[in-house]
Amino acid sequence: MLAAVVRSFDRPPRYEEFPTPRPDGDRVLVDVLAAGLHPRVRSGADGTHYTSEGRLPMVPGVDAVGRLPDGRRVYFVADDGAPGTFAGQALLDPRRAVALPEDADPVVVAAAANPAMSSWVALRRRIDFRPGQSVLVLGATGNAGQMAVQIARHLGAGRIVAAGRDPRRLDLLTALGATDLVSLAEDPDSPASAAAADERLGAAAADVDVVIDYTWGAPAQRAIPAIVTRRADRARPLHWIQIGSTAGPEIALPSAALRAADLRVLGSGQGSVTTAGIVAELPSLIEQLSVGTLTVDARPRPLAEVEKAWKEPVEPGSRTVFVP
Ligand SMILES: NC(=O)c1ccc[n+]([C@@H]2O[C@H](COP(=O)([O-])OP(=O)(O)OC[C@H]3O[C@@H](n4cnc5c(N)ncnc54)[C@H](OP(=O)(O)O)[C@@H]3O)[C@@H](O)[C@H]2O)c1
Repeated sequence: MLAAVVRSFDRPPRYEEFPTPRPDGDRVLVDVLAAGLHPRVRSGADGTHYTSEGRLPMVPGVDAVGRLPDGRRVYFVADDGAPGTFAGQALLDPRRAVALPEDADPVVVAAAANPAMSSWVALRRRIDFRPGQSVLVLGATGNAGQMAVQIARHLGAGRIVAAGRDPRRLDLLTALGATDLVSLAEDPDSPASAAAADERLGAAAADVDVVIDYTWGAPAQRAIPAIVTRRADRARPLHWIQIGSTAGPEIALPSAALRAADLRVLGSGQGSVTTAGIVAELPSLIEQLSVGTLTVDARPRPLAEVEKAWKEPVEPGSRTVFVP
């Protein structure tokens, strides 16, 4: 079959021949219809993802919409050990697949399911989220952040504070459900600008119940004290759900922040949620994607152009979807 093949972690994949995987046990071969180029795919392909085992050559791609031999369309999450979904065909484990509704657009589902799942699973599996609770989305301007705003609204959040850097993307979030916008943009050489940004975030998000954190790194390190010290009731639980690390893999967390407020730091991703738990959430999420509850800017591209597309700058808020 033809596939995107990574032969070195410091080079983009190339479109070339790769052995077609053999069906085994319960796994069946499907024709791939559409597969999204998510950050998780890039970190798998450059060997930096926390689940990466460093084996080469490899076919990237963590999920896809595919067609079963009987013609049915499904969205599925690839098995960790199997070749990925950036290929004409891929192995599908029925325990990691859900049927696509008739009217679902495969490109839209392939673009949105991964970024949407991050907050969907976090709010439904990692905490006891209740309608009316308020949410801060830290790093709201990316695909996952923009989905998190919409999913928080769909799940009945009260206030939804969206914080991000890109002013154009930030402005679009009001129409998607954000009740408050906070700019994280600042002059990196100006301490006054940084203090003003902390003040803005602290004022808007002091009393939120949940933080959905896509940045970690410096924005999270500064946001924690900015919020914790401004809470009206410090004993009110604050669930800080760590989901992405676009701004860095580590933070320094002052011990006082954990004593002075009911700050509960937890993560959501592969491992902290079981595969079965993630898959159990898929049907309801795919249903919402199919009926258009969630907006995504999907950009289809022939898989044959994978090497070129990989190197191109990404239009903020858009998601490339490869079509074999
Ligand atoms: N745990 C899970 O289940 C799960 C699932 C899906 C995704 N993720 C993770 O979530 C993260 C976001 O994914 P995505 O699909 O939204 O990616 P994306 O569409 O590429 O968006 C990334 C965003 O990160 C922001 N960013 C980058 N550096 C930043 C910084 N220093 N400070 C503040 N913001 C910064 C950018 O916002 P600006 O344009 O405003 O600068 C950009 O729009 C990734 O780390 C991804 O791996 C986790």
